[in-house]
Amino acid sequence: MSDIHLACVVGARPNYMKMAPLLRALEAYPHVRPVLIHTGQHYDPSLSDVFFNELGMRRPDISLEVGSGKHGAQTARVLERFEEVLERGTPEGHRYDRVVVVGDVNSTMAAALAAVKLGVAVAHVEAGLRSFDRTMPEEINRLVTDAVSDLLLVSEPAGLENLRREGHAESQLHLTGNVMIDTLKRMLPKARDRDGLVRYGLEAGRYGVVTLHRPANVDSPETLSALLDVLVAASREIPMVFPIHPRTQARVERFGLAERLGRASGIVQLPPLGYLDFLALTSQARVIITDSGGLQEESTVLGIPCLTARPNTERPITVDEGTSTLVSNDPRKLSESLQTVLDGRYKQGRCPALWDGRAGERIAKILAGKA
Ligand code: UD1
Repeated sequence: MSDIHLACVVGARPNYMKMAPLLRALEAYPHVRPVLIHTGQHYDPSLSDVFFNELGMRRPDISLEVGSGKHGAQTARVLERFEEVLERGTPEGHRYDRVVVVGDVNSTMAAALAAVKLGVAVAHVEAGLRSFDRTMPEEINRLVTDAVSDLLLVSEPAGLENLRREGHAESQLHLTGNVMIDTLKRMLPKARDRDGLVRYGLEAGRYGVVTLHRPANVDSPETLSALLDVLVAASREIPMVFPIHPRTQARVERFGLAERLGRASGIVQLPPLGYLDFLALTSQARVIITDSGGLQEESTVLGIPCLTARPNTERPITVDEGTSTLVSNDPRKLSESLQTVLDGRYKQGRCPALWDGRAGERIAKILAGKA
């Protein structure tokens, strides 16, 4: 069998835990030759390097260093620089046979678009997810990426339905399960070994974990301030651990909310954490409050109640089968659901099919032409 040259693209924090298991699984197929390309959308060590180290992922072969910027500018830089990468060919001088993109960040969409314009086939891992909310940048990224991909690797059944409705051929679709859960299952024993809780004075099952970074929640002073008020109130009952994304940190400071947050002794403010420290916290929490896509899935697998601060989700299985409830950015809904959890009346979830730690293997088999 002749070699298959893949350009595997990552750009931002949620991409690494999806690409790592795939690269690992591809090692079973020596004729598949992946080149790892980092766009540099995330560049802070806390959002990037730490994940490569902990996940045991090889260093990128090529870095595009696009950095932050407005959507148009950031996307354009990836398009321009990744197009050059594809035109140059692999470091060994081969033509790329396929580009592999994961998730829904700007880098995902831009890399897919650059590839298809050059006639390079695109595989999208985590295809078909739809929030049906076009105000979310990620929804646009998902729509565009899927439209130009010829191989669509899907994590939950709703994704298949969405792609069929959009007219994709059955031969393009594969329900492979959730590759991010491969990483979670592999890393969980190590994460639980860490003395993460002791360091912050926490007891297992007796604290909450909060992450907020979506523009809809953190870009307006009224919304952010109302959400923080609920968290501060809740932190009088149980400590709330809040690793703060740089975007959110900037807003907290700009809106003059830093003092209010700082005064609440039950709020444990932290910088963005590495994968293991974060998993140590989430896996032993009483409740998770988040607007992250990935965390809705992780909490479902961990069996931890997840109050999702979004009006919709592209991951409906986390609500229908899992432990997530949509509370929007409505302070009343958030505090009511939180009370349900603290009173022990919250629903139980179950782990969705194929979220079994082997999605990377299934995807690798398809990419290797052995499925
Ligand atoms: C991006 C993704 C989002 C994902 C999130 C995870 C898009 C549209 N959004 O959002 O889907 O959930 O990553 O974190 O792709 N910044 C730093 N250091 C960095 C990178 C960014 O300080 O290494 C700050 C900059 O001020 C930057 C801001 O964060 O302007 C936003 O970064 P950006 O990559 O545009 O989007 P995220 O909000 O991180």
